[in-house]
Amino acid sequence: MSTIVSPSLLSADFLNLGKDVSMVNESQADWIHLDIMDGVFVPNISYGLPIVSQIKKTATKPLDVHLMIIQPERYVEAFQKAGADILTVHLEASTHLHRTIQQIKACGMKAGVALNPHTPVNQLEDIIRDIDVVLVMSVNPGFGGQSFIPNALEKVKKVKSLITATGSQCLIEVDGGVNLETGQQLVSAGADALVAGSFVFKSDDPVATIQNLKELKA
Ligand code: DX5
Ligand code: ZN
Repeated sequence: MSTIVSPSLLSADFLNLGKDVSMVNESQADWIHLDIMDGVFVPNISYGLPIVSQIKKTATKPLDVHLMIIQPERYVEAFQKAGADILTVHLEASTHLHRTIQQIKACGMKAGVALNPHTPVNQLEDIIRDIDVVLVMSVNPGFGGQSFIPNALEKVKKVKSLITATGSQCLIEVDGGVNLETGQQLVSAGADALVAGSFVFKSDDPVATIQNLKELKA
């Protein structure tokens, strides 16, 4: 299987968002990654539901929505209506995570759980069979363009072992500081999907950059 690539629009040109969504449509990207920040769970505010709905009108790839908000259960239905296909919530942000995951699936979306850099992988033990995606954060969430935290490689290996041990079908996605070098290390460690923001959108040829990430092989 080739690497799943999910370009993060956080690094796109917000005055020309339609143009950047079209670029992703025409590229080999598999998903479009949308970062929703509430200024409470993370120290930044990004964009919200109206933007997601607008992107949905023009995007031809599944919307991979990463909620960096407290109590994400309050907004599950709203993001489904806005067009999310994969909805990822943070383990640290949802007290009744199992219920939140059931809510996401009942709305017809794929369910993801994100782990902050400090959160141990063993906290996934009792939820791994219920989810479609684990999102390993390789930066502290909140901003694009940060440096990759190398410990993410160990975490990817641990998630992989947990998946194998439990027979879970879920995918491993990694978010933060991904470029060709860290991307290769992550794919070799067992990552199935890579999120890349600044590496794609600040490159001279974003379509080719997406293609290069897609070709990474374990
Ligand atoms: C960070 C976001 C990322 C961000 C990644 O909180 O979750 O999706 O866009 O940006 P880069 O790829 O530039 O590290
Ligand atoms: Zn993200």
